[in-house]
Parts: sequence; structure tokens; C-alpha cells
Amino acid sequence: MCMSGPAWVWLNGELIPYDHAKLHVASTVIHFGPTAFEGIRCYRWSCGRSAFFRLGDHIERLLRSARAVHLEVPFTGAEITRACVDTVLANRHTDAYVRPLVFPGSDSLGFGRPGRHAEVCVLSFPWRDAPLEKSQQRGIRVHVSSVIRTSASPTLSASKVSANYAAGLLAVHEARGAGCDDAILLDGAGAVAEGSTSNVFAVFGEDLATPPTNLPILAGITRDTLLVLARELGIRVAERTFGPEELAVADEVFLSGTTSEVMPVREIDGRDVGAGVPGPMTRTLSGALRGAIRGDRPSRQWSHSVPRGI
Ligand SMILES: Cc1ncc(COP(=O)(O)O)c(C=O)c1O
Repeated sequence: MCMSGPAWVWLNGELIPYDHAKLHVASTVIHFGPTAFEGIRCYRWSCGRSAFFRLGDHIERLLRSARAVHLEVPFTGAEITRACVDTVLANRHTDAYVRPLVFPGSDSLGFGRPGRHAEVCVLSFPWRDAPLEKSQQRGIRVHVSSVIRTSASPTLSASKVSANYAAGLLAVHEARGAGCDDAILLDGAGAVAEGSTSNVFAVFGEDLATPPTNLPILAGITRDTLLVLARELGIRVAERTFGPEELAVADEVFLSGTTSEVMPVREIDGRDVGAGVPGPMTRTLSGALRGAIRGDRPSRQWSHSVPRGI
């Protein structure tokens, strides 16, 4: 992802210049952080058109996450969907990472005071595939973190809310200190939960496994897509609990997410996963996902085209 500022930001119903989108230091969101957000990819297809992947599912999750932190969203899902399209069009982004956010508009320092309506904004950044592809080819090194993936409630843990990300940030910091690229977090009972910004999959022989959604994980849209694709490919899949000892002897391990797609794990805490290179099932699923998101396979209502104009 390239993080140079885009030209336009959509804020509360209008497109404004990026540099005009500012928050006051007294904003509740800075102090207590109950922001609901999404990370969505818009892909440039080989035919030249651009399309969002599972945009409707991301917007639904955004609204669910906003409800989980009691934010009253003054726009409908259709309006926020349109805002995402308008933002990439205004910025002339063909390959983009799009981040809608819903946050409390109140500027009260008081804790738990009901604020005004939530504010809604949509950011779009141009996307470059090269860094991702480089990591995908080699696979990454992960650390099983001492930081536990917990949340105040099951509803909150299933939501994409900023407050949940403190654990992931600490875990990544710890992982980098241990010379790794990313972290895998366990739940309070010691089961593998998820990556810092991804879900975890492991291959045992012919079987694919991923932790179930009753654990404190975000039910990833990429995770769901991979479960559908794996079943279509005739792969046996189980959503089941497993611990770090079982993960350590998996034949293949990969992470999944909107930004990482399928990210092979080549090493866990200094120990090779399988042969220490991306394994066959990982490569098969990575290819199937790429086909689905970049429009090379027949669409199944997963893609949301951007009108021509960029
Ligand atoms: C904590 C966490 N888990 C899992 C995921 C993967 O979710 P998705 O596939 O919807 O991007 C993400 C990505 O945003 C995440 O932040």
C-alpha cells in the first residue's frame, strides 16, 4: 500500500480535500477509541475495469461493528457503499485500499456520554501489489505471541473496532523484537485465535483447519471466501480449535486477510513450517482467491464494479 495522501476524502456526505479532513484534539474518539472501521480492496482487473471485492459484506460488517459500540450511523449501507465508489473515482484510484470509518462525533471529555451522531468518513489509498507478492512468494516468519487475544465481550471481539487492536499492535511489536514479521495470538484458553490483522489456517495432511468463530476472532471475509473456495475444490475443511503445539507440526500454515490475501507462513518461532516454503494447498488456495478477487473466474456476486471513468 502506498501511503501518500490521496486528493479527496469523503466526510459526512461530501468529498473534501484530504488536508481539510481534521479532528479536534478533544474528540472522544482520540481519548477512548470506539471507532468501527473496514479495510476493503478495489482491484483493477486484467480487462482494465476496477471492482471492489465483497463490498456489501464489508459495509454490513461496518454497520454491525458500529452497533456493537452503540454508534448511531446517520447514513445507510447503500449511501456508504456509494461513498466508497465515489472516493476511488474522485481520486482516480484503479487499484485501491479503501477504509471507511465510523466514529463518535462528540467532543465531550466525559466518559460514556452519549455524543452527537457518529461521523462517517471514507479514505482511499493507491495500492501496489509488488511488496505483497514478494512476501507471498517467500512466506513470512511468525511468532506465537505472549499477548492474549481477548475482548470485553463476544460481540465486541467479533467486531472490527479500534479498541480491539491494542493486543494486535503489542503482539506485532513483540514479534518484530523476536525477528519475525508478524504474530499469531492465542485466546485465553491457549488455543490459536488469529493473526494481528488476519485469520489463521493450517494444513494437516489432506485436511485444512481454521479456528472457529466462537473464539475471539474477527470472522474474516477472506476467511469465509477461502472456506467457500476450498469446499468447491473438494478440500476437507474443519473450523476447529487447535493449540500452538499442533500448529507447530502442521504441514502448511497461512494467514488470510483483505490486505494479505493468502500469506504463507514459512517459519514459526525459528522452526520451519513443512519444507520452509509455501506448500501446495497454500498455493492452490492463493491462486483460487486471486482468480476470484481479480475477476478471472466467473463472479458469484462477490464483485462490485466501479463505473468507468478512472
Ligand atoms: C484482527 C483481524 N482478524 C482478521 C482479519 C481478516 O479479515 P478480512 O479477511 O475481512 O480482511 C483482519 C483484517 O482486517 C483483522 O484485522
